Amino acid sequence: MTMNERARAVLRGNDRGGYTIPTDGLYPYQWNWDSAFSALGFATFDRARAWEELEKLFEAQWPNGMVPHIIFRADEPGYFPGPSIWQADMGPMPSSGISQPPVVASVIRALAEAEPEQAAGFIKRIDAWHEWWHRARDPKGTGVIAITHPWESGRDNLPDWDRPGDMIDVSGVGEYTRSDTSLVDNDMRPEKQDYDRYLALVYFGRERQWDPEKIAVENPFFVADPGITSILLRAEKDLHVLARGAGHETARIEDRITRLENGLELLWNEDAGGYVARDMRSGDQSRRASAASFLPLYAGILTHKEELLTTLREFAERVRYLVPSFDPRDEHFDHIRYWRGPAWAMINFMIANGLRDIGEYNWADRIRSDTRELIRNGGFAEYFSPIDGRGCGGGTFSWTAAIWLAWELDE
Ligand code: DGY
Repeated sequence: MTMNERARAVLRGNDRGGYTIPTDGLYPYQWNWDSAFSALGFATFDRARAWEELEKLFEAQWPNGMVPHIIFRADEPGYFPGPSIWQADMGPMPSSGISQPPVVASVIRALAEAEPEQAAGFIKRIDAWHEWWHRARDPKGTGVIAITHPWESGRDNLPDWDRPGDMIDVSGVGEYTRSDTSLVDNDMRPEKQDYDRYLALVYFGRERQWDPEKIAVENPFFVADPGITSILLRAEKDLHVLARGAGHETARIEDRITRLENGLELLWNEDAGGYVARDMRSGDQSRRASAASFLPLYAGILTHKEELLTTLREFAERVRYLVPSFDPRDEHFDHIRYWRGPAWAMINFMIANGLRDIGEYNWADRIRSDTRELIRNGGFAEYFSPIDGRGCGGGTFSWTAAIWLAWELDE
């Protein structure tokens, strides 16, 4: 089988009837941003299936606009924590009570060129979701978007969350059994201390019936994320193009774009040479750059372009494959442990596209060819060591296959 055929087989194999799971076993439900990237992959060979994926995602949208991070369509006893732990039944079907990086508008814009009418049908729903991010995760209008759980960032155990996480009381968590570590090597997954915090935050949210107003004020973890903020900014710009094309009113979208453009500077850290997380309770900034530090370029923010390219060059001196998820010069860097060092195909895709859009073709090509080599050698793994290239985490992974296919079109 060719790589393309294998990639398509991964997506087909993870299809559960109109929606795609990230990979069998480890993640047996529909995850939000995984699903959006899967749609991008399906769009290269089955357009109808791509649109169906996106429809299925929005079927779970809450009345308040939130699109949840996991949709529990079936009960899979093999996953922890499942629907009975989340107890989030505020939407039309069981789901988690938090969201995930809003890449959907950008995926839909890519599909819209060939099928503008299909795309137009999503504008109102995306607009409600984007509005939710601002209202629920930036109620004070600072222009940066906070996450209320590391899972909301999609970059679960990034060292940026370590210090803000010290504020989380884990004394009520008790005994529990994880399922992830029986499926994947322990060294590649978050540690117990992280998991205790993840669960404590789930318990905290469910006690407040996942009410975003209460959570914004009371949650022990409220941390502005350069990843979500940049991805949302790019998505707002893509939504703006879709809305204008369809003749919709765009003033509200423009206001949100301006707010985020002004806000991002709050996350700049000169010493780190990148945009980093900021704990909105204490005001503390993280000290080191991560892969998300480059995402403001993808959102079209060029204020610190030169400094970011310097940081990227320094990263490249330390690892064989770009882009490590965390600064390889830091003591917390770990080349195989999930978000503490490994390279991820879909993050690379966003960074490389951002660099291409601003004319940094050499860097864009370097990141794309590194990613393709990682996948060619390491398979359709969840993530990869940026040092030795080994495939880590889950195998037959949807978004890795999807990015392979999306990039194949560009070759
Ligand atoms: C997990 O189960 O590890 C997921 O990252 C939660 O979204």
